Order: sequence, then structure tokens, then C-alpha cells
Amino acid sequence: TKTENQMLIIFGASGDLTARKLVPGLFNLFKGKHLPKNFVVLGVSRSDMTDAEFRKKVALESEHLKSQATVKDFGLVEDFANQIFYEDLGSNYDVNYSRLEKRISDLNSKYRTENNYIFYLSTPPSLFEAIAKNLTDQGLNDETSGCKRLIVEKPFGYDLETAKALNKGLQQYFKESQIYRIDHYLGKETVQNLLVTRFANSIFEPLWNRNYIDHVEITNAESGGVGSRGGYYDGSGALRDMFQNHLLQIVSLIVMEPPIDANAQEIRNEKVKALRSLRIMRDEKTLHDHTIRAQYVSSKINGEVVKGYREEDGVDSESTTETYAAIKFYVDNWRWKDVPFYVRTAKRMPTKVTEVVIHFKSPHHQIFKDSGMFNKDNKLIIRIQPDEGILVKFGVKVPGQGFKVERANLDFYYSGLTETHVMEAYERLLLDAMQGDATLYARADEVEAAWEFVNPILEYWKNSEAKVYGYSAGVWGPENADDLIEGYGMWRNPGPN
Ligand code: BG6
Repeated sequence: TKTENQMLIIFGASGDLTARKLVPGLFNLFKGKHLPKNFVVLGVSRSDMTDAEFRKKVALESEHLKSQATVKDFGLVEDFANQIFYEDLGSNYDVNYSRLEKRISDLNSKYRTENNYIFYLSTPPSLFEAIAKNLTDQGLNDETSGCKRLIVEKPFGYDLETAKALNKGLQQYFKESQIYRIDHYLGKETVQNLLVTRFANSIFEPLWNRNYIDHVEITNAESGGVGSRGGYYDGSGALRDMFQNHLLQIVSLIVMEPPIDANAQEIRNEKVKALRSLRIMRDEKTLHDHTIRAQYVSSKINGEVVKGYREEDGVDSESTTETYAAIKFYVDNWRWKDVPFYVRTAKRMPTKVTEVVIHFKSPHHQIFKDSGMFNKDNKLIIRIQPDEGILVKFGVKVPGQGFKVERANLDFYYSGLTETHVMEAYERLLLDAMQGDATLYARADEVEAAWEFVNPILEYWKNSEAKVYGYSAGVWGPENADDLIEGYGMWRNPGPN
């Protein structure tokens, strides 16, 4: 696909995301010659900075870029930096839009970006609607000449009601087809590979249902704590920060029916259907039995004292915000009836890992009586990060007398594809938006369906006495974590495969 000449206008450009993800992603696209001939980045925020200062901050002297650019790329960094500009909107975001419009239009004429603009909103969500309105007042949503797209960062809403209000607010100014809601997990190769694994092979899909799958387990663990984001995180929690968006996106790709085509419309139609089939937990007993929330408490990791969540900067000392959430749920449709899904996400775990485990049922008649089949069910493990890849666990005979069965692995690792540059999530997603491909962006109805499922859990946790358990930083969650998966023993705590 050809990428049109265009300008990327980043709101909130002095923030962390621009330096950490967006500009390095753009630099890689530049280096890989994926950017169009005429391309300009205009950073916008409240800070007072010149073009030169902004270039230094996000490119020329940026640690994030340096860690990516090799010494021989340095000339390239300079060329790239010359395409970056900055405009200060002052402390009142509302009043200076005509000046901004003028700057955009000057850059557009000078660099011939053909009225194609992408606005990237990396600001607090409370500003999204006001920015969309101000852009509209300046005629910057008008697609009569050139495309106008709006990329919005998470969090998309705080709960169902606010997400709906935000959709409505944005849609007053931009058409749904112009709005790109980013979820960086969809930019990860291995997340996209879920679709290919399922629908480009004939060996998995016939088994991908309640007849052969016993249960599905998803783990998202981070070893880090909330770091410097305590203020944001304390108003959010694991359920909003990770589960509602990233993890339910993964769930939708596992659950969905085959789309008739791999385009944005068809894929997203199926994802919405999948999300709408998640069984919403409405009664207290289910909410009590099927959810666990917890917080990390101070402990020693490798001899060093690690702060507990409530001691983190910006966190209320009596906070009940969860840093660990584990949810069990069912999917009410033909394919998945009665198959439990177990999904957990947490900070301060022993390691950083995200994986999906499809547990297949045991053979219905066991003929190798003393084979010790316990915990030797067939598993398909999709490792989303790190060591991206896929693993099939299956039984093989142990050489020697009798029939002893042992578990062996069939594996594929992306690192084996040495020739290929695996794009970073943001790099991939930015390029897609530049090309007008919204397949890997969340649609309004998709986001709302995910909130529909999460909302009763949020309510329950907010209004009830539902206990907030503690776990020592550096362990796999609270002691009762395994209670959720009663009947199956325990979570698979990923380590070396
Ligand atoms: C972000 C969350 O969306 O995802 C962070 O706000 C989290 O809290 C991050 O750390 C995890 O992303 P990744 O790509 O490192 O798994």
C-alpha cells in the first residue's frame, strides 16, 4: 500500500510516550523507508519549546532513540530530526487554535503534505473532546481535500458510561471511520499471529472449541511496579489499565469466529460479536467466586527492599486499587459453552511475561495406565512476550520398556527468523493509521462491549467488601490465587518452557 504524503500532529508531545515510543517508532519507519516522500511531524503541547529544543529532546539527544540507532545511523537521525517541528499551545489549550491552524497550513504548503493530517492525541483523555472540537472549529476535520484522522490513546473511558460519552463526544466532530483508538497490544506481532495460527492452518481450528478445549488461561505479568505512574495508576488499577483493553483484545482474538475476509470491517465485526458473548457476571456470588483482586506489599527481592504499592509515590496510603486482577469467566456461544477462561494480570510478579495457554482435554480413554498423565494434557502455548513464539506440548514415549509417556515440545520462536525486522507495536500501528488501515484499532462498539463486561466487576469491587488481598512483591500473586482454578490444580506460572 502506498503511504500518502502527510503530517502527523502529536498533542501532548512533551510527554513520555512521544519520546519513548512514538518518535523511535517513526524513526524506524524512516530508516526502513516506509515514510512517504513528504512527511512532517508537528509536536504540540503546553510547554514552551522551540523546534530545535524539541528536536533535541525527542530525537538528537534522546536516550530512547540512541538505544535504537546504531552509530552508523547517526546521520539518519539528523535527517529525520529535520522533519520534526514544535508548536506551543500555551497553558490554555482552547484559545490558541487559530495559531496552530496557521502553523499547520504553513508547514503543509512548504513541505507539500497535501492536506493529509493525522492528529495523535497523547494527552489526558479529559482533553480529547475539547481538542476534537477545536480542530473542527478550525476546519481541520474536513476531508474535502486530504484525509484527516484522529488517533486516541488509552485510557478510553473510565467505565462504560464515560466510554460511551467519549465515543459520542468524538463522533460529533469526527466520523467513526476517521477515529483510530489505539491498543498497543494489537500492534504486537504475536497478538496478530493469533489470527494467523487459527485461520491459516487447518490443524488447530477443528479442535478450537468446547469438544476439545478444556480451558483457556491467559497470564500477563510484569516484574515492575507502578514506578512514577502512581498518581495515574491509583485512579485506574489493573482491571482498567490492562484487562479491559489489552487482555480483552487478546480474548476476542481467541474467541472470535472466522471472519469472511481479513479486512478491518469483517475482523472487527467478529471481535465485537466475541466480546458481546462474554457472560456478564451479575450476581454477587459469581462476582465473589470468580474474581480476585490484590495489591503487592513490600518485600525483599534479591536482597533489596521493594516498596509496597501503598508506599509508592502518588498512591493513597489506604488505597484499595488492585495491582493484581484474576478473573474467571465463560463465553456464551455455540463454540465455547462451558469452557472456563482464566485471565490474570499483575505488577511486581517474578518475571515479565504474557502468554496464552490453550489446555486441551485429555484423551477420553486412557490406555497407558501408569503413564502419569496428570498435568500432561496437550497444550498450545502462545508466548506473546518475551521469547515470542508458539509451543505445542504433546506426549511421547519414554524410550525403554513399557509405555511411559513424557511431555515434549514442538516449538517456533520468532527469534529464529533472523532476517526479519519485527516491527515494534507503535511502529506498526502508526504505519497502519498512515495508510488508513484500522484493522488493528478498536472500534467504538468494541470498546463499549469490553466495558459492558468489566463494569459489573468494577462496581462490585467499588461497593462491596470484596477483599483486597496482599502478595509480596516478586511472587505469583496472593496465596488464594489458585482457588479460582479449582479443579485444575493451579495456574501455569511461566518459566523456562
Ligand atoms: C500499558 C499500561 O498500557 O501497558 C502499563 O498502562 C503497562 O501499566 C503496559 O505497564 C504494558 O505494556 P507492555 O507492552 O510492556 O506489555
